[in-house]
Amino acid sequence: MIIQPRVRGFICLTSHPEGTAAHVKQQIDYVKSKGKIENGPKKVLVIGASTGFGLASRITAAFGSDAATIGVFFEKPAVEGKPGTAGWYNSAAFEKEAQAAGLYAKSINGDAFSDEVKQQTIDLIKQDLGQVDLVVYSLASPRRTHPKTGVAHASVLKPIDQPFTDKTVDFHSGVVSDISIQPVENPSDIENTVAVMGGEDWKFWIEELKAAGVLAEGVKTVAYSYIGPELTYPIYRNGTIGRAKDDLEGTVSVLNDLLKDLNGISYVSVNKALVTQSSSAIPVVPLYISLLYKVMKEKGIHEGTIEQMQRLFADRLYSGKAVELDEKGRIRVDDWEMREDVQAEVAALWEQISTENLEEISDIAGYRNDFFNLFGFNFDSVDYDADTNEVVDVPSIK
Ligand code: NAI
Ligand code: NA
Repeated sequence: MIIQPRVRGFICLTSHPEGTAAHVKQQIDYVKSKGKIENGPKKVLVIGASTGFGLASRITAAFGSDAATIGVFFEKPAVEGKPGTAGWYNSAAFEKEAQAAGLYAKSINGDAFSDEVKQQTIDLIKQDLGQVDLVVYSLASPRRTHPKTGVAHASVLKPIDQPFTDKTVDFHSGVVSDISIQPVENPSDIENTVAVMGGEDWKFWIEELKAAGVLAEGVKTVAYSYIGPELTYPIYRNGTIGRAKDDLEGTVSVLNDLLKDLNGISYVSVNKALVTQSSSAIPVVPLYISLLYKVMKEKGIHEGTIEQMQRLFADRLYSGKAVELDEKGRIRVDDWEMREDVQAEVAALWEQISTENLEEISDIAGYRNDFFNLFGFNFDSVDYDADTNEVVDVPSIK
């Protein structure tokens, strides 16, 4: 079929198999261009492996240190003339590239929050790898069915005490407007968001992997967090999602206790704000990102998800030196985003930004391009008017 972008709000309903493959290839080439990560991970489980930071982590482990990888994700193959999801095509492309490079790669498509998928993953590790030495936890989801209680939790993106009004952008139309978001009415909104995006499921994974004996001596595990600038605090770090991130970060000490007898360790890495399927759903943040891109590109310090994860692995987790942590025990690869000069320039632009000057003073063009790239669009190497086969296998998934 001929596949072109079909956008609804902040999602794109279609994905292009050849374009997503080009995107994966680009990321692989970047990691290879940086050279081998010495003493990097060898057997890696990535939970949330099909898009965004999780995919970039998987690519970095595989092509940066020849790791065998198992990826867990929740994606859809093509059905009846409807293309598959970007994460499905990404995983298909990743596995093919890994196979061609002689690297083990298998994937599990299902609900990572469930006991069943955890058990399936444990069985696969036992069968093929014995143990894993790195577990990356990179889920982003709007909902979670709790495996013990059966309760379906839905997360919300809201401020907590006061209504919040600020600028936001519709990145397709380029209209900048004010948005007002009412605070949570009910503490259950906070609890539900923490249940979905907090640390409990990460803990369940590590507990179950450990009990099954599939964590290697010296195992590492890492999950991803975000802080960002003060201007997004009401909607992000001090909002419902921020409570979930507090909980995720708090899980590090629990996991460190759990992993002590294996000489294992857990980390949260605070990453840079980037265009992913998840971040495009947050109000205000896309406008901030388009200004951030502008400033960081001008300074020559812009990074995408793959540059971030390559740096996390090479300069932090596997640098051979003690891992540098902030006062709260977190890895910071948002260090360049949070630089004073960067933040001061973004804040000044934030005051001026409007529909009229959006194209000029922000990198909204870069934002849009990254957004379309997520779904395999806007790649020069792909002819989007040509027929393409939408039915693509992820080789390891039957
Ligand atoms: P993403 O939307 O690109 O990736 C989410 C992944 O989770 C996908 O692989 C998806 O298949 C998987 N997933 C979702 N629900 C699942 C389920 N029930 N079972 C199995 N897999 C499931 O998101 P992104 O942005 O890469 O987020 C990953 C982490 O990074 C999140 O914790 C996010 O908060 C964090 N982060 C994101 C930043 C950003 O700017 N995008 C910045 C800093 C941290
Ligand atoms: Na991810």
